[in-house]
Amino acid sequence: MPAQVIDGRALARRVRAEVARDVAALAIRGIVPGLAVLLVGADPASAIYVRNKERAAARCGIAGRTIRLNADVSAAQIAEEIAELNDDPTVHGILVQLPLPPSISAAETQALLESVDSDKDVDGFHPTNLGRLVAGQDGFVACTPSGCMRMLAETGVDLTGKHAVVLGRSTIVGKPMALLLMQANATVTICHSRTVDLPAQVKVADVVIAAVGRAEMVRGAWLKPGAIVIDVGINRRADGTLCGDVALSEAVEVAGAVSPVPGGVGPMTIAYLLKNVCVAARRANGL
Ligand code: GUN
Repeated sequence: MPAQVIDGRALARRVRAEVARDVAALAIRGIVPGLAVLLVGADPASAIYVRNKERAAARCGIAGRTIRLNADVSAAQIAEEIAELNDDPTVHGILVQLPLPPSISAAETQALLESVDSDKDVDGFHPTNLGRLVAGQDGFVACTPSGCMRMLAETGVDLTGKHAVVLGRSTIVGKPMALLLMQANATVTICHSRTVDLPAQVKVADVVIAAVGRAEMVRGAWLKPGAIVIDVGINRRADGTLCGDVALSEAVEVAGAVSPVPGGVGPMTIAYLLKNVCVAARRANGL
């Protein structure tokens, strides 16, 4: 039987409806959740992501504002913008769209992310929020891993005792993903570019989260029959079409459920960003 294809667009619509209800509940108290996005430079993919975030926020009644800065701004100028947003009570969530231009070093990028007020860090990238996740405390969890967990929940799988294999060890997807899976009582393996015999690791997984950024790397033959596969990758094939990290047409023949690209994790990431903005607005008002 072919796998269930997890429809991220339909699920994200439901999450956005939950957000709209949250926004309406806040409106009764005179609170309008506010999201500020900082977009530096003219990276075309970032411009599309930011436009999608703006639209989704507006449709849910969130007050969105995008601050666009030229690619040649200094880290100090970006820091000034962030400081202003930190001090603005109408802004509950701040997002610095990544990547920043190449003129901003990795160390500067990290310092800028750390300069965002951790209570407005709706991306969940601030070390304080990462630490809260490790400690099992309330904070902001990165949107992509949160969206992936919701997709897993939608399949009806009980993660307790399941073996989850996370491909990728990034701070914004792989590591928080592994922590969330562990919190849900899965046994977790994190694989990365130096892992020996990746197919053998994947073969024993009940749940696979692919976040490596390599087009269709995970083959159907790697999968355990019935496995649940969440594909975080967004890659472009040589012909310009989009694909994930998983060879979807092969995976559907083996997996129990699989998320497609496009139309899988991407819309869920945005929906969970909006959820985080509502959480930030509630917390800022002591609710
Ligand atoms: N660039 C690509 N994805 C993301 C994301 O989720 N958040 C931010 N801030 N930048 C990104």
